[in-house]
Amino acid sequence: MIRSRITGIGFHVPPRVVTNHDLEKIMDTTDAWIVERTGIRERHFVEGDVGSSDLGIEAARKALADAGRTPADVDFVVFATTTSDWMFPGNGVIVQEKLGLGNVGALDVRNACSGFIYSLSVADAFIRMGQYKCVLVIGAEVQSTGLDLRTEGRDMAVLFGDGAGAAVVEPSTDGSGILSWALHSDGQFARDLWCEAPSSRVPGRVTQAMLEAGQQLPRMNGRQVFKNATTRFPEVINEVLVASGHTLADVDLVVPHQANQRISDAVVQRLGIAHEKVFQNVQRYGNTTAASIPIALTEAREAGLVNRGDLIVLAAFGAGFAWGGCAIRW
Ligand code: COA
Repeated sequence: MIRSRITGIGFHVPPRVVTNHDLEKIMDTTDAWIVERTGIRERHFVEGDVGSSDLGIEAARKALADAGRTPADVDFVVFATTTSDWMFPGNGVIVQEKLGLGNVGALDVRNACSGFIYSLSVADAFIRMGQYKCVLVIGAEVQSTGLDLRTEGRDMAVLFGDGAGAAVVEPSTDGSGILSWALHSDGQFARDLWCEAPSSRVPGRVTQAMLEAGQQLPRMNGRQVFKNATTRFPEVINEVLVASGHTLADVDLVVPHQANQRISDAVVQRLGIAHEKVFQNVQRYGNTTAASIPIALTEAREAGLVNRGDLIVLAAFGAGFAWGGCAIRW
């Protein structure tokens, strides 16, 4: 039986670290408020003319090296981001060109925080159907340039960071690899975490009035996100475990999308799983949207928490609302 296996992972964050104390200097917030409500202590922000494709390419190079592969081996690219360099084309073709991948296909996924899991499922399907043998999956975001860093925007601005992570996905026949995944969405909540402009509904895509109202910046109903996330995370984790014939007791590590420590704590409590079985690094990166799972997975492996044969569960929830999970025999 052919499965698909993650054979290499890597991440890249821009060097500039922005602490909660740095944010205190530019908006009315406090380190204590941010740490208590989110667990976040610092995040990375790009400087100058750096786009999410640049971060993604660095992460991709590391993932390829980790897999022992070169750009010549890659036969398809899936790039997850909500913050692509341009409105179109998406970042996939930028990676194709800059990494010198030949004329391979490049697909862009815009599913925000669940983008990496959606992308992994696409890679898995292509590999299992025999279409491709080496798929490069990238999640990368530059959120900082779209944040309102004034007090008016503090509810969102303190949460997000920039970064990228990548995975190389290849066929496996030894029983390891992706065992199951589940994808869901509920568009009734689309306006609870969204960025309205630029919009095809608007002649010229964005008006002065929209700019003045900040409609080109992301907006969020934090409580609605929190309420739904804490229900959907445990639900989808159980779903992929049942689909793979496992129970929570079999799980070695859950690597959730890093949105907020309080969300993860609530998930730990609802699942009744040991705290140390749910990986967290949101303290140092904030929410990096599509990049957060591959960044967390790489750090978890570096910490010795992801080993061959382990049962790893990935789960994500975010804008859409869209959410998903994935069970992997590493
Ligand atoms: N610093 C200081 N005060 C802040 C603040 C900040 N960065 N952001 C908001 N506040 C204030 C609010 O203005 C409000 O003040 P008021 O009571 O005087 O009106 C107060 O803190 C409480 O705000 P509230 O929005 O009720 O806080 P909360 O307990 O719901 O926490 C979030 C806010 C955003 C931390 C929380 O809703 C959350 O974690 N939501 C999920 C967000 C998320 O993870 N999104 C991405 C998902 S992929």
